[in-house]
Formats: sequence, structure tokens, C-alpha cells
Amino acid sequence: MSRAVPDRPRLTARQPPPRTIGQPTGRPGEYIVGRVDDLAPGEQKIVEIGRLSLGLFRIGDAYYALPNLCPHQYGPLCEGRLSGAIIATAQTNWEPVWAYDGEVVACPWHGLEVHVPTGRCLAYPEVRLRHYPVRREGEVLIVSLRRTTPPSGESTP
Ligand code: FES
Repeated sequence: MSRAVPDRPRLTARQPPPRTIGQPTGRPGEYIVGRVDDLAPGEQKIVEIGRLSLGLFRIGDAYYALPNLCPHQYGPLCEGRLSGAIIATAQTNWEPVWAYDGEVVACPWHGLEVHVPTGRCLAYPEVRLRHYPVRREGEVLIVSLRRTTPPSGESTP
């Protein structure tokens, strides 16, 4: 008498494990933080890498990552609303103008505003958050936690 042998899954070419958020890429200091289509322009999300909490932002087609830690009283800065800000500087002849539309996150605790592309606080420009570069690899977004030169540019508030 023969016994029925349950079907076993056929072994095929070894598939790589699925890539998940917070998983290292294998390159020093680099971690997967999501997929390109996870965020529409103007959206943000919080990503945990070990004990580090990051805010991942998409502004236009560019991605940015900042620490989810407000320099004021350590509130969850990156959970705040993404918008613009009213500024008045010597460049605006001290007239209040709307600026950085869609590029400023306001801390949900007390409203400190940070320009996401540069990490600079609008009220205290000498305060600048650490900035983590984000790059695309196919459809996957990868953040580097290694120290880099801060971004520069004319849009610096
Ligand atoms: S903790 Fe963010 S503004 Fe106070």
C-alpha cells in the first residue's frame, strides 16, 4: 500500500528576500525607506530605522529625510503639516511675503518651521537640522545615514 506524499514546493532559483523598510542595503550606512510610489508630491511619512525616527518628504520629484526630532523641545517635527511660510527679510524689503510653498514643515507641538530641502529653521537660521540624502534605486528609496556636506543652494532661507 502506498501513502500519498504531500506536494512539496518546487525549488527554483533562489529568490532574494523582499526588501522592507528599515532594512540595510548592504552598503555602509544605507537603508531602504520605501518605494517611489509610497509618496505623492507634497506627502511625507515617518520611517523608523532602528531607534532613529526620520521624516521622509517628497517635494516635487525630490525626496528628503530629516530627523523626526524638533530642536525646540524634541517634539515629532516631521509629523507636522507641510506648507509654506510668511517671511520678511532684507531681501523682501522687510515686507511679509509667502515663500517656500510646500517646502516648510511646522512642528505640531509649538509651530517651529523648518525648510525641508535645507533643514534650516526659519526663525533661527543658525539652527540647521541634520540632512540625510535620499536616492532612488529603481523603484526603491534609499537613505544614507553617513555624514555628508549639507545641501546648499539659492533657496536657502
Ligand atoms: S517641540 Fe517643536 S516647536 Fe516646540
